[in-house]
Amino acid sequence: MQKAPITKYKPWGVIDLPHRQWPNRTIDQAPLWCSVDLRDGNQALPIPMGVREKLELFELLCEIGFKQIEIGFPSAAQTEFDFARKLIEDDLVPDGVALQVLTQAREHLIRRSFESLQGAEKAIIHVYNSTSPLQRRVTFGMSKEQIKQIAVEGVSLVKKLLPELPDTEVQLEYSPESFSDTEVEFALEVCEAVMDAWEPTVQNPIILNLPATVELFTPNVHADQIEWFCGNLRERDKAIISLHTHNDRGTGTAATELGLLAGADRVEGTLFGNGERTGNLDIVTVALNMYSQGLHPELNFSHIEHIREVYEKTTGMTVHERHPYGGDLVFTAFSGSHQDAIKKGMDLRQKEGDTDDFHWQVPYLSIDPRDIGRSYEAIIRINSQSGKGGVAYVLSREFGLDLPKAMHPEVGLIMNEKADSESRELAAAEIYETFKQEYLEKDIPLKLLAYETHKVSSDEITCTATIKLNEESLEISGNGNGPINAFVHALEEAGLKDFKLTDYRQHSIGGGSATESAAFIQLQTKAGRVAHGCGIHASIEKSGLLALVSAYNRLH
Ligand code: KIV
Ligand code: ZN
Repeated sequence: MQKAPITKYKPWGVIDLPHRQWPNRTIDQAPLWCSVDLRDGNQALPIPMGVREKLELFELLCEIGFKQIEIGFPSAAQTEFDFARKLIEDDLVPDGVALQVLTQAREHLIRRSFESLQGAEKAIIHVYNSTSPLQRRVTFGMSKEQIKQIAVEGVSLVKKLLPELPDTEVQLEYSPESFSDTEVEFALEVCEAVMDAWEPTVQNPIILNLPATVELFTPNVHADQIEWFCGNLRERDKAIISLHTHNDRGTGTAATELGLLAGADRVEGTLFGNGERTGNLDIVTVALNMYSQGLHPELNFSHIEHIREVYEKTTGMTVHERHPYGGDLVFTAFSGSHQDAIKKGMDLRQKEGDTDDFHWQVPYLSIDPRDIGRSYEAIIRINSQSGKGGVAYVLSREFGLDLPKAMHPEVGLIMNEKADSESRELAAAEIYETFKQEYLEKDIPLKLLAYETHKVSSDEITCTATIKLNEESLEISGNGNGPINAFVHALEEAGLKDFKLTDYRQHSIGGGSATESAAFIQLQTKAGRVAHGCGIHASIEKSGLLALVSAYNRLH
């Protein structure tokens, strides 16, 4: 990096818009969406998609609900042309879906684009040329007038050729490419000249797409550009203002959202933000951000894992684990305090009503993962950073074991130590296996080999048990007001009671004929040391005795 003072870069500047309105607005309407996955996204792939992959992705885009899909650049490559023909000739375009094709404002490319669209029902012809001072000077060596002329001539040719698409409802889109770096006054001048040439109507407005071809500044400047443009455009009601942000500074989503506040009507982007360099705008994120605010985006992302699968298969790209909404880890909490809060939120929701009528308010989860086909199992995973709440949550949710609260720290510690010593995350099954080893299968020093209970009176029973203490078998017997109490007295008679039973609780697991009982017991020594035990058995009585043995073994 250059040492300060930096002379190699300078601030882009600001738009003079003292009375800007966008900061006071909210997004209250879904925009028109246009997917550019098959063009801008495809252009940016190391190995571009073939017709087969493009078809599969096109079908997915239709399923999601896109009504405008830029299918390619048919005048630029044979595959692109063939794809357009296949869609039209094989009648693969659902009703109401417009096929958008991109073309530079050059005669032979425009003519070839027309050929590619023969027989389409609805088409958007997207003409572009670059307008920024940098492009004018470096790439084209042209004056402003010459650049404007290219746009006007291109659009005039499209207009002249319209009779060649007699069965097609055609809409025009014009992009002053590199709009983000163009003087707003000049971008406006070119777009108005294009409108004069095209003569749009309120019924068939022109799409003016204002691309942040390269993202060069903070999103508020983008919003100012859009608001300035919308406010100064002569026949605003005859134009649909479209956004097309890229993500060079990592703020493509924010720029689009602020651009919508600034008055834009339409959004171009791709699934998961595929596209040139750092990518195009990620439509999934913007749409689900709207959804999380209670505004339906009019796109369906109910099965996001399927969408991701098709996207990855057709493009060869991968979705990052942390990618909003679609990433593997985005509904996963590793930190203990997050897990605790999520568990509390989920429990409360279960109690208060877990239906769509209840406002979603679960800490750390901006939306309900189920709404986009993600599962709860993935929410809490256990590693050495996890807390007691997370472990209890997994045991409860996955295995039906509701540990008493006082037991959470003890069990949490066991799992943390295991994860820490093995330097890895523990799967739910491993958590249960460890719990089993520590609580259900430990039989040293004490093991219950057999037992019987006899009723002595209405409030007294005798418990006779065969136990193994270390390697020695013993017969013990005691009386009490219930089996656990009688067993404790039996241990006392045998000189083995060096504890006080401080808590006992039980609940059933499962239902029907497979119901089992889970019992939990807390013991405390005179010195104040506490241990918990758990027993699981089809008999409530036996689960209690096993819980006592389990706690005894953890104490000794
Ligand atoms: O990023 C861009 O400017 C484009 C145009 C062709 C619209 O993709
Ligand atoms: Zn682009």
